[in-house]
Amino acid sequence: LDSYGHFGWSSQLLRQVTPQLMMAVGTAVIGSFQFGYNTGVINAPQNIIESFYNETWINRFAEPISQNTLTALWSLSVAIFSVGGMFGSFSVGLFINRFGRRNSMLMANVLAFIAVAFMSFSKLAASFEMLITGRFIVGLYSGLSTGFVPIYVEEISPTSIRGALGTLHQLGVVIGILIAQILGIESIMGNASMWPLLLGFTLLPAVLQCVLLPLCPESPRYLLINCNEESKAHTLIKLRGSDEVSEDMQEMKDESQQMMREKKVTIPELFRSPMYRQPILVAIMLQLSQQLSGINAVFYYSTGIFERAGVSQPIYATIGAGVVNTVFTVVSLFLVERMGRRPLHLIGLMGMAVSAVFLTVAMLLFDQLRWMSYVSIVAIFSFVAFFEIGPGPIPWFIVAELFSQGPRPAAMAVAGFSNWSANFLVGMSFKYVEQLCGPYVFIIFTVLLLGFFLFTYLKVPETKGKSFDEIAAGFRQSAGQGADKYSAPEEFNSLRGDDPNL
Ligand code: GLC
Repeated sequence: LDSYGHFGWSSQLLRQVTPQLMMAVGTAVIGSFQFGYNTGVINAPQNIIESFYNETWINRFAEPISQNTLTALWSLSVAIFSVGGMFGSFSVGLFINRFGRRNSMLMANVLAFIAVAFMSFSKLAASFEMLITGRFIVGLYSGLSTGFVPIYVEEISPTSIRGALGTLHQLGVVIGILIAQILGIESIMGNASMWPLLLGFTLLPAVLQCVLLPLCPESPRYLLINCNEESKAHTLIKLRGSDEVSEDMQEMKDESQQMMREKKVTIPELFRSPMYRQPILVAIMLQLSQQLSGINAVFYYSTGIFERAGVSQPIYATIGAGVVNTVFTVVSLFLVERMGRRPLHLIGLMGMAVSAVFLTVAMLLFDQLRWMSYVSIVAIFSFVAFFEIGPGPIPWFIVAELFSQGPRPAAMAVAGFSNWSANFLVGMSFKYVEQLCGPYVFIIFTVLLLGFFLFTYLKVPETKGKSFDEIAAGFRQSAGQGADKYSAPEEFNSLRGDDPNL
């Protein structure tokens, strides 16, 4: 087998995955875990926390809360997390070059600590305002993490396993969701006395990250390219576990020289410059494909969806979805360097579209055929599995790949903001759209998924195995060929569809 084949890839992996590298990536993705945990945590204890809102209301106003106010307060408690995420992700650029990648991650933990204080003392203080504020602040933290973590991980990874390590960000997210679902079971922490601890659990990973981050190296690319500190950039030797880093160093120096020719890239410039217009469009569309696939309709509302599909133990079906979610992220981890980003994203989108059709059919036929509830479970599980094959992990890390060191922070901010806004949109509107469309609601996602499939097929380049500089050169070349003509860069075309490694 050649160096891209199965055995070649595995031995390459073993050589490059050094303890220092794994420690650095493992510590960074604690931030991803926090994002996932706080995405999933609010689902199971809904009724219990709503009772707390009601009691607080009665204490203050001597009457029970009205159903409308309760629904509004609850929706706010869920969705304000994504509003925090929008602000957080948009602010990534304020920190990441000024303080560095590692220290930015470290500093963000201040937000996690404040959020924990607000959320876990809200019951004691009889204040739902505190809980809502805490959700906003932990959203800020999560928004920052979705920028900091992929940037750091991508920058410290060797090119040939960059996608696999980038997928670890998503693995952190899905494990966070799963742990939140499990701890949220009534007999564990999803009950009237323990829910403040369930929300406060975020403290533990935050402490762990604060202890471990100072032991991790700063990104050598940041030290060399942004700070011009070549001597410090030799932290690379530790990460690679070998003195033979001259090739990597040379590649960074080339990128650095290239960057000196570019002036500092701001967000408006990303859209104005023909060189960045194509990659930023690809980055935004990939983020939208992730969120508008409808995945969070499942992760926010699965229990209700399963209930309506006639599943008798919806909580366990929800946890089942969390398990499938985790397993398939691991599958993607092992496929992404062999098959590449493009094919996996395409397979994922198409698989989701087909699963959504099955789900719709199962929901429509449920009244006549009771066994359709099993078809619904299978359809939702396969929807989630296909999501994690491509649309889950790839958009998060590919943005860092599509841009070189100069525009990367601004691009990550724009991409993250698009992702969180679409997340907010689905989270807020799903219930209403479902009321309007009934069982047909997932057909909307099918149509969107097919649109994103087409876009990916036509416009998204393969980035597997290419250095950041090569990827940027591909876009420069295509921008040079005609600023207005928009298509996947020539250089990447050979990798479309006819990849010999497939
Ligand atoms: C991705 C999405 C997130 C979603 C999760 C599900 O990380 O960004 O919104 O909840 O996948 O696994």
